[in-house]
Amino acid sequence: MSDLTAAWARLTEAAKAAGPRRIASLFDAEPERLKRLVVEAADLELDLSKQPWSLADLDAALALAKAGGVEAARERFFAGEPVNSSEHRAALHMALRAPRGSDFKAQGQPVSGEVEAMRGRMAAFANGIRSGAHKGATGKPFRKLIHIGIGGSDFGPRLVWEALRPLDPEIEVRYVANVDPADLAFALHGLDPAETLVVVVSKTFTTQETMTNAKAARDWLRAALGPAGDAHLVAVSAALKETAAFGVPDEHVFGFGDWVGGRYSVWSPVGLSCVIGLGPEAFEAMLAGAAAMDAHFQSAPLERNAPALLALAHIFNRNGLGRPVRAVVPYAQRLHLLPTYLQQLEMESNGKQVTALGQPVAHHTAQAVFGDAGTNVQHAFFQLMHQGTDVIPTDFIAVRHAAEGDPAAQRILLSNVIAQAEALMVGKSEAAVRAELAAKGLPAAEIDTLAPQRTFPGDRPSAFVLMDRLDPQHLGALLALYEHKTFVEGVLWEINSFDQWGVELGKTLATRVLGELDGGAAGAHDPSTARLIGKLKG
Ligand code: F6P
Repeated sequence: MSDLTAAWARLTEAAKAAGPRRIASLFDAEPERLKRLVVEAADLELDLSKQPWSLADLDAALALAKAGGVEAARERFFAGEPVNSSEHRAALHMALRAPRGSDFKAQGQPVSGEVEAMRGRMAAFANGIRSGAHKGATGKPFRKLIHIGIGGSDFGPRLVWEALRPLDPEIEVRYVANVDPADLAFALHGLDPAETLVVVVSKTFTTQETMTNAKAARDWLRAALGPAGDAHLVAVSAALKETAAFGVPDEHVFGFGDWVGGRYSVWSPVGLSCVIGLGPEAFEAMLAGAAAMDAHFQSAPLERNAPALLALAHIFNRNGLGRPVRAVVPYAQRLHLLPTYLQQLEMESNGKQVTALGQPVAHHTAQAVFGDAGTNVQHAFFQLMHQGTDVIPTDFIAVRHAAEGDPAAQRILLSNVIAQAEALMVGKSEAAVRAELAAKGLPAAEIDTLAPQRTFPGDRPSAFVLMDRLDPQHLGALLALYEHKTFVEGVLWEINSFDQWGVELGKTLATRVLGELDGGAAGAHDPSTARLIGKLKG
């Protein structure tokens, strides 16, 4: 048996014993529990003490990380080696946010110089737009920005804008992703083309949804401003030939290297809408926060390494305890898009069934992630979280100081997140419920019926990420925390976390079906699909 197989077996054995054990019982049994399971990284606090593992189980998980070569993989990753092996590319998003003077290389090619130059160019462009020095075709300053992109070219910037936007922004930023024409219609509604900048973001500049929306937005500009409307177009892409063909002026094109993966690209010019909307200083602070997490991930021993520990906690649930689903619940309205962002980050990165060598995986891979902002979710899916038949681990994210509003409301918010995590773990025993009902004087027969319904099994694990405030720095650190935890999981599952072949088949079929909906000859389909095409064509 290889060391790795033995380490997996040890983890599985540990999880078997953890199954029937109460998490809450571990605090008395393990005086060191809080000390070992609360870690600080880049000014974030990660509390994994409400996880089902004992400290001995944690040691088994750490042994797995060591046997699985996490440390060596981390070195290859930071060294810019082609960790995206199926596409022969590095995945070097850390270079995008590195402190000035860094020396990152993607497959041996220096990239830090071009990154710094691009950061400077973005800042200058953003300052020009924000100050009004850079004007539109009619001489009006730009006051609205439409960001068009999808997937990794949308989720990150949209999340960052939602998380950090001022109450009264100097530039209003709106995001359009869906090819559903309603999305663009709502985004453009009420806008004056003369003061609107359209930023088209697509790594490939061929994505069907983005190009459809980009053409419609270009038509909207040209209809109002004539050919001069093209001066309102900005392109962010790794495909510079395509951006020129689309009519974007050269000085409005922001490129990036193929070593920037789509779902890891918010730090690149893909985040230009945020540089413009929030200002370059805020964007740079976000990069600095992520860089602080990079430094932590790269240098902290696994025992104190927040991304590694979070990955191991998730793996303990996923692989050890067979829990395929996880909830992510930020108790911060401004972070309500975080679960969607993490869906792509984790499920597109690690939703794989074969290893990087093309062999079937030996273990289940990515959890399905869902969630939304607390406290809203308490009135949506928390019934199931507390009393449903499945145990669904949760990641809670809380922010100590609110950016705005009534501090009393913020304390209510915080009391809820703390209480939910406690309730999920501790539960409420049937005996306690019976005593309560008896004290209220309920008849015995009614107590027999009601008590089981009002019992909470507890033992439902959670991770707790605490941010001091939701500012650019802490947001950058939070996103980098999840990026690196996704990386660690990919290493242990032996998959390539940086490709996404699974999205291709649907794209190809959609093109074929579109031809048929547009009146082309019927293709070969299963009867169910053929019926739908027949019904919707023409
Ligand atoms: O969803 C599939 C995907 O390929 C993502 O990986 C990517 O983020 C998105 O499409 C958008 O791609 P592009 O930036 O090339 O338009």
